[in-house]
Amino acid sequence: MSSAIPPFPPIEDLTAETAAEELAWLAAEMARHDALYNEATPEISDADYDALRARNLAVEAAFPDLVRPDSPSHKVGAAVSSQFAEVRHGVPMLSLDNAFDEGEVRDFVARIARFLKLPSDEPIAFVAEPKIDGLSANLLYVDGRLTLGATRGDGRTGEDVTANLNTIADVKQTLAGDDWPDRIEIRGEVYAPNAAFAAFNAAAEAEGRRTYANPRNFAAGSLRQKDARITAKRPLNFFAYAWGEHSRDFAETQWEALQKLKAWGFPVNARSRRVEGAEGLIAVYRELERDRATLGYDIDGVVYKVDRLDWQRRLGFVARSPRWAIAHKFPAQQATTVLEGIDIQVGRTGSLTPVARLHPVTVGGVVVRNATLHNEDEIERLDVRIGDTVRLQRAGDVIPQILGVVPDLRPADA
Ligand code: IVH
Repeated sequence: MSSAIPPFPPIEDLTAETAAEELAWLAAEMARHDALYNEATPEISDADYDALRARNLAVEAAFPDLVRPDSPSHKVGAAVSSQFAEVRHGVPMLSLDNAFDEGEVRDFVARIARFLKLPSDEPIAFVAEPKIDGLSANLLYVDGRLTLGATRGDGRTGEDVTANLNTIADVKQTLAGDDWPDRIEIRGEVYAPNAAFAAFNAAAEAEGRRTYANPRNFAAGSLRQKDARITAKRPLNFFAYAWGEHSRDFAETQWEALQKLKAWGFPVNARSRRVEGAEGLIAVYRELERDRATLGYDIDGVVYKVDRLDWQRRLGFVARSPRWAIAHKFPAQQATTVLEGIDIQVGRTGSLTPVARLHPVTVGGVVVRNATLHNEDEIERLDVRIGDTVRLQRAGDVIPQILGVVPDLRPADA
């Protein structure tokens, strides 16, 4: 899901004319997102949807005469969160800080040693786990039975998708073994394997049905179906890697906890490793980066977690991320393709943006057909012409970027 909410001008800068334009745009845009949401193919996160709603209210408050008959503010219980019941997680589901290079990984390890006041030669053990590119789910087990399954939502409150999660074979209805806490939230990632995703899209395309941009959108759309019978037909899997609320402690290390999750019946990623120090982490990262394309499912980095749970507790959290874990992200994926044309997109405020129309190319598992060229200066800077072969990159959800031209491949008539 993208977080592509345009930067809005300050309310004080709006005139009646630009405010009216913006309200028209917001009404159309939110209606579009409502429709996408109701088809379980949302393009934006709930938080971004809420940002649009808040902006609409703020503009209307400043220009009450301009409130439109089709204003999203007239719609009670907007599309997001109306479909599934809201559930509060027993313990919030946090996010992770990112590291983008090896220096940041070494800083992370050094920070931990400093915080724990460890002597410089004391080895710190970590678990390095593939960062699965799906969506996280929270599974509450009471007396070993799955009683509630929820999406992450905003981290505190998610959506009750128990019926849908129940259709995933990897999500156990009852825990195996008998050494589980009476009450435990088990957390992990719902994802779609690449081959199954490609097969679904191929069949959907052949039958003229909707296709999905990537396995993650597909997994998210599939998990948020109103009718769980549709979810049941979708190829979804689950990896367990964390836990929330628990009525008693059940492990002393992250590694031991993963073995417990496995013993209770969950798939646990076989590529996770217990290693020491920054060099150990970086070695796992390089291996996973090398093998990434052959895993059969998308990963977007490696998550490093301090192994000892007593150290995790001492390290605690800063804002919404644990001090004891970090996500080491893979660099943006690159590809080359041919620039077939340049369209001019007219923005909400009348601004003009050139958009590159590209020969479709797969970059990091996503088919890219367009990329922003930002403005005329950027076209000049890149010296990009129609017919050129261009290098482009895509990082996560970010709009694909054109990095430059391959000069040797420029046709004479470009
Ligand atoms: S641990 C407090 N482990 O990454 C730590 N997260 O950016 C909680 N993810 O929301 C997360 N693979 O959806 C953890 N092996 C893994 C993961 C993982 C994927 C996702 C998860 C989380 C996001 C954090």
